[in-house]
Amino acid sequence: MDMQETKFARPNINVGVVGCGNISPVYLENIRRNFSDVINLVACSDLSNERAVATSKKFDIPKVLDFPQLLQDPEVELVLNLTNPLAHASVNLKALEAGKHVYSEKPLAIELKDGQRIINKAISSNLMVGCAPDTVLSPGLQTCRKIIDEGIIGEPVSAIACFGSHGVERWHPNPEFYYKKGGGPMFDIGPYYLSTLVNLLGPVKRVTGSHARMFPQRIAGDKKIDVEVSTHVVGLLDFESGAIGNITTSFDMWGPTRDVRAHTKKTIEIYGTEGTLTVPDPVHLGGRIRLLTMDGDKEMEWIEMPLAYDEIREIRGMGLVEMVWAIKQQRTCRVNGNVANHVLEIMHAVHKSSDIGRHIELDTTCERPDGVPTGLPKGVFDR
Ligand SMILES: NC(=O)c1ccc[n+]([C@@H]2O[C@H](COP(=O)([O-])OP(=O)(O)OC[C@H]3O[C@@H](n4cnc5c(N)ncnc54)[C@H](O)[C@@H]3O)[C@@H](O)[C@H]2O)c1
Repeated sequence: MDMQETKFARPNINVGVVGCGNISPVYLENIRRNFSDVINLVACSDLSNERAVATSKKFDIPKVLDFPQLLQDPEVELVLNLTNPLAHASVNLKALEAGKHVYSEKPLAIELKDGQRIINKAISSNLMVGCAPDTVLSPGLQTCRKIIDEGIIGEPVSAIACFGSHGVERWHPNPEFYYKKGGGPMFDIGPYYLSTLVNLLGPVKRVTGSHARMFPQRIAGDKKIDVEVSTHVVGLLDFESGAIGNITTSFDMWGPTRDVRAHTKKTIEIYGTEGTLTVPDPVHLGGRIRLLTMDGDKEMEWIEMPLAYDEIREIRGMGLVEMVWAIKQQRTCRVNGNVANHVLEIMHAVHKSSDIGRHIELDTTCERPDGVPTGLPKGVFDR
């Protein structure tokens, strides 16, 4: 084996999947197609045995277990938690208590205290917690990260992030949970935008917000869903770096609010002392990277920036793969629990600030995760 092969020898881990619903095939297909040498899918579990059995058949997962059995199975080293948001905290905690690493869909938990309990348990058990979204590892968002780190737009001074949609009932087969506790656009979509902002600009120290519920009921086919959470949520973010950002997440918007046809209503822009950067949609990863720089006080033309990394179409599962590399290398993974816990506090603070009518100073912070080095083979995170 030559040096190069040794350097890139791929790690390997046994994974048990909990939650075999709508998003699970995206993960499992991507793992099967691209990462089957890194991730062995050994067991799956769902409250619906029928779903678990179907998933096991479709993806050749040898064991269908109930959750307690999966926790006791010594073969399972890591739990991939794809359950609904309200179940995240208990599944994550129980998995850690059973001595398994955890990679969770977002958000890490719903209650703030649960997020911190998960982090504390992982530290005291010497286990790793990773948490979606992993879209920050995508070629587009990592290219933006590199542009910022290279100082091409100078010092970032502000950012805007906007996700507007009219809800999920037009495409999701079980949309109810999006309108109940733990749902709403900030807890559902906020993690994508906020973890992107934290990766690009670093942690946040103070939050201000407003939130509202514009439509008390939603119609999904022949079902009426009573909306129990705010569906239009706007936050102001003071970053530790001194930059100021704002974020809008909405299930109440039919069309773009700004005349930004070049983007969509799904936008992030970063404004620096020497230029402006438009960032791809952190949920679906589409969209161009555009850069406006200054020459003295003269604006240059907007230019389109090429990707600094090979294009990857479907990223989901990449955060899990990067975490497996991190476990092997005994370092913190990039889409880690601390970032997710910080994002959880930001999301709560936006709502709380609105409720009590004042700024919220945050208790949590996190390290800005390292950017991904360029030139690595696909799916390899050997830094
Ligand atoms: N659907 C998407 O496009 C999408 C995209 C990105 C992220 N997500 C996230 O993925 C997670 C799952 O979403 P989904 O759309 O697949 O939901 P879903 O309702 O389609 O599936 C969730 C599955 O988890 C199972 N489950 C719930 N609690 C469980 C428990 N305690 N033990 C075992 N199984 C349990 C349910 O029975 C269900 O089959 C959510 O956190 C969501 O935010 C979804």
